[in-house]
Amino acid sequence: MNYRHAFHAGNHGDCLKHAMLVWLLGAMQRKPGGVFVLDSHAGTGRYELEHGPASRTGEWRAGIARLLDDPPEPLAAYVALVQHLGLYPGSPWLIRAVLRPQDRLACCELHPDDHAALRRLFAADPQVAVHRRDAWEALGALLPPKSGEKRALVLVDPPYEEADEFTRLAEGLATANRRMKGAVLAAWYPIKHRAPVRAFHAALRDSGIRDIVAAELWLRAPLDAARLNGSGLVLVNPPFGFADAVAPILAALLGRLGAGEEGAGEDGAGTDVLRIADE
Ligand SMILES: C[S@@+](CC[C@H](N)C(=O)[O-])C[C@H]1O[C@@H](n2cnc3c(N)ncnc32)[C@H](O)[C@@H]1O
Repeated sequence: MNYRHAFHAGNHGDCLKHAMLVWLLGAMQRKPGGVFVLDSHAGTGRYELEHGPASRTGEWRAGIARLLDDPPEPLAAYVALVQHLGLYPGSPWLIRAVLRPQDRLACCELHPDDHAALRRLFAADPQVAVHRRDAWEALGALLPPKSGEKRALVLVDPPYEEADEFTRLAEGLATANRRMKGAVLAAWYPIKHRAPVRAFHAALRDSGIRDIVAAELWLRAPLDAARLNGSGLVLVNPPFGFADAVAPILAALLGRLGAGEEGAGEDGAGTDVLRIADE
């Protein structure tokens, strides 16, 4: 396990994932019933940007740094949370910040140091459980929630260190969908070049899962397999209102993050919303 999210916190991939995550939770919280949130690859929960690993890569300067001033309306709730929380919030801390008393969060993190940091962050928090267990196993074991919530949001955010990560992700989503049919599943994926993404979408189409969409943002034409040219979020059972909300969020991200990108232009940067499988 070499991947450390601390080097990449606040980059354009995080901005897409976290802006959508905040919207998803808000949409699910329109109903009063409790929501169970499972964050299968949680990381440490919060990150220094000006010092330490993130300052060494500087990826956040082309990401969250470009959203902080006068954020466009579709990103306002996400950016307000980032500013309120101080350090850059990873997914578990963002989720925790918007939990209602009736909601619960379970996080899985396998790296010993990151797991320990997450345990400290949520020590004695009765609404948050932190597990040091394998995410792929947890997608079966922790769904449906034993605490009885009827609705769940599952964020799956693997590090893509292994060659077969897209295959494992498609299998993991199928497992989670089998265990809890109505759960909203959200999985982030990198767009370096097109071929692996097309194969992933095809695997999802063949999986038998219904109601899948993907939202994508790329800052350069996805031609260089060595660079993170963009990223996407695949959603199973997107909540009501998704179709109206997603395009403005993507456009707002593109407007700020695509500006001045090398290779960005009419044919370079762009967004897309794809229906992978019908309801
Ligand atoms: C992309 S980072 C997560 C970032 C986090 N979701 C966020 O948005 O702030 C992926 C994390 O998954 C952890 N990880 C890798 N393989 C795992 C596995 N099989 N089970 C649980 N965690 C794993 C890594 O240590 C890393 O912290």
